[in-house]
Amino acid sequence: MASPSVILIGASGWLGNYVSLEFLRNRSSFTRLAILTEEHKRHKFADVEAKGFELIIGSYTDAASFKGFDTVISLLGNLVMKDQPAIIDAAIAAGVTEFYPSEYGSDGHQGEFLSNGYWREKQRTVAHLRAVVPQHASFNYSVVMTGHFVEFALMPLFGVDIAKHTFELYGSPGRAGEWTSARDAAKYIVQSTLLPKSESRERWFRVPGGLYTWREVIATLEKVQGVKYTCTYLSQQEAVDKAEACRKAGDVDGELAFLLKKNLGELGVVGVPQPWDNEVFGFEPEGFEQAVRRILEERSEGLQE
Ligand SMILES: NC(=O)c1ccc[n+]([C@@H]2O[C@H](COP(=O)([O-])OP(=O)(O)OC[C@H]3O[C@@H](n4cnc5c(N)ncnc54)[C@H](OP(=O)(O)O)[C@@H]3O)[C@@H](O)[C@H]2O)c1
Repeated sequence: MASPSVILIGASGWLGNYVSLEFLRNRSSFTRLAILTEEHKRHKFADVEAKGFELIIGSYTDAASFKGFDTVISLLGNLVMKDQPAIIDAAIAAGVTEFYPSEYGSDGHQGEFLSNGYWREKQRTVAHLRAVVPQHASFNYSVVMTGHFVEFALMPLFGVDIAKHTFELYGSPGRAGEWTSARDAAKYIVQSTLLPKSESRERWFRVPGGLYTWREVIATLEKVQGVKYTCTYLSQQEAVDKAEACRKAGDVDGELAFLLKKNLGELGVVGVPQPWDNEVFGFEPEGFEQAVRRILEERSEGLQE
């Protein structure tokens, strides 16, 4: 697509920050770059607005918010993903021709993922996209599958405590996972908006940076940090029970976190099935160790994006 006009939703979030900055690095390739937000959130975008993003103030379920844009990129977090089918309808009504659902992880539309509630809203969204594509001749969608972000191998959500040098997993350390740095994920997202559309009007970009078992992940952290990790392996059932307890207590965040933790240690699960599409893009992704070293260095220098 020549010089698209792109609007981001959920741009202030964890991933949104990386994606916004990557779009700004490529500003000249786009006719318009905008962020959709609400008046009370405007202050969060002062920096990127000064650097070249337009701010559109409006609701993401109102077609007027998307008028004049061809590409909508959803970067919404878990708790608002349920709104995506209504957002898609609003975008189509506005004449949008390309929609990116909030994915950017494992392919939750296959295998064991189909029965794990963590991916429920992502599945509902893609089901909606599949249903509306045949009804709207100029509407397309793109799904970007990166596997886990390397940054999360340094965070408690994935069981790692880099300060205490501990690791806790519900399942097996032999589970292999696909990993990509968030910086590379942002590059894949931005570059994909400039690629030709597919005849099927559905593009699935499978672009992990590499495949590593938890054993390799922890061995890399030990090597880079020069320490030994204490690892605790819990049963998968424990994650299921904790997810259920959170659900009963009305703690949606907690429920999703334990459903994700269950998946992280599940042997035999393939997060992003091969073949992968990295060669379609014009760069070599960072390896896991290289990314860990860079992220820790940037953190220590206070440079992280
Ligand atoms: N592969 C991985 O390891 C990995 C890791 C993290 C995330 N992800 C994926 O990346 C995508 C984005 O995740 P994220 O962690 O960046 O999301 P996030 O930070 O939790 O939220 C992103 C944005 O969603 C909007 N939002 C969230 N909660 C809201 C609420 N209650 N009301 C209104 N708006 C709300 C906000 O946007 P505004 O304030 O801008 O409106 C927020 O900044 C998701 O699909 C997630 O699964 C993947």
